Amino acid sequence: MNNIFIVQGDITKAQVDAIVNAANPQMLGGGGVDGAIHRAAGPALLEECRKVKAVNGIRCPTGEARITAAGHLPAKYVIHTVGPVYHQVPNPKELLQSAYLSSLHLALKNHCRSIAFPAISCGVYGYPHREAAEVALAVCSREEFKQLEIYICLADQQMFTIWLDAENSVHR
Ligand code: APR
Repeated sequence: MNNIFIVQGDITKAQVDAIVNAANPQMLGGGGVDGAIHRAAGPALLEECRKVKAVNGIRCPTGEARITAAGHLPAKYVIHTVGPVYHQVPNPKELLQSAYLSSLHLALKNHCRSIAFPAISCGVYGYPHREAAEVALAVCSREEFKQLEIYICLADQQMFTIWLDAENSVHR
């Protein structure tokens, strides 16, 4: 997986074509990385999100992704994806896979050469960290994404270590 880079840091500073936001279905901001991205991008990002068509208030169903401009962020795009709330769905693994897949396909469709992910669903959505890392790395290492530089951007040392271990076990 020589196109996948596990790093520790603040995703809002990532110098990539697209950063992925761990959003909610309404796509109107929130806490966690969603809040950090909106703060760093400025109000223009919320305006971009409001342009995304909503059906019954839902702009992005769980497992799907939407792309917007990125306001003041160094990235060109923000790809908003919604991961599963781990204890609320019968199929969290499939929905987490889908969130990563939808984001990667949207990045390719928009000619991105690099993308940065946070640990989707690993905060308030409660996904067990090691399992999430294995799901994410298995999707990101698919042949179809080999041309993409994929950064997994972890906020803290503990998560960084969990993901490095997961990558090593996938390699073994
Ligand atoms: N850079 C990188 N990672 C970050 C940053 C940051 N600046 N800030 C937080 N994180 C990490 C968290 O530590 C966690 O590991 O992002 C991971 C995802 O956590 P959440 O942001 O809580 O996302 P998630 O679990 O998917 O829950 C999404 O939370 O903020 C709301 O609106 C959002 O309703 C949605 C829900």
